[in-house]
Amino acid sequence: MAKRKSLIAGNWKMYKTVPQAVDLAGRLKSLVSDSVDVDVMVAPPFTALAVVADVLKGSAIHMGGQDLFWEAEGAYTGEVSASMLTATGCTYVIIGHSERRQYFGETNATVNKKIRSALLGGLTPVMCIGESEAERESNQTFSVVQKQLEEGLEGLTSDEVQKITVAYEPVWAIGTGKTATTDQAQEVHEFIRGRIEKAYGDSVANAIRILYGGSAKPENIGDLMAMADIDGALVGGASLNADSFADMVRISIDTVTNKT
Ligand code: 13P
Repeated sequence: MAKRKSLIAGNWKMYKTVPQAVDLAGRLKSLVSDSVDVDVMVAPPFTALAVVADVLKGSAIHMGGQDLFWEAEGAYTGEVSASMLTATGCTYVIIGHSERRQYFGETNATVNKKIRSALLGGLTPVMCIGESEAERESNQTFSVVQKQLEEGLEGLTSDEVQKITVAYEPVWAIGTGKTATTDQAQEVHEFIRGRIEKAYGDSVANAIRILYGGSAKPENIGDLMAMADIDGALVGGASLNADSFADMVRISIDTVTNKT
């Protein structure tokens, strides 16, 4: 099986002022020196991207935006384009996070437009999907995830899909301290990879990275990373502390080194 390089990504959400972001990025830079076996990315708020890019210069840590708008430029008050993100040093962008779907009306259709514009702009989209607690309890997990995946990726070529990172984030596990069990997570990751294989073929399915998100922390990252179809994590709360995020990177490197 083709070896996928894992990714540990920190989504800072609406935390960290500029000075706080500089401090966190500086600490991370000194702790995560050389993570050749896993990719590391942080997604600060827009206001801190430029200063964080400056701090991270010369380190192995990549930077991403937390969202973008699909138009190249124009009268879209409050929005940020792909080229604005790349010009600050972003190479990734999170798209369709459940908080954006829940509070800002994002749909699979807007996610699809945003993914296209990210790819066009040379950014790696981290496309978030995941079911709510009610959907899981009514046995709709697979159908919800399948719909998000199919509609989010609609019309994209295999080559484009291969460039995307998927993040499976069960909404009930985000910020709640309730992590999906490793078996629950693996089962959905395997399902997602299976759907991708059906639609885009074996080599795309083997190459695509699928991250887990939802109360990932140093205490559970090793078990999660040991699962066959879990290729990293999108970390919220635990990424706001340099020591705990760096621990997660270290543990992930150890785990993937031993993963067959
Ligand atoms: P927590 O790690 O705080 O649960 O957040 C997960 C998440 O939403 C990452 O995008």
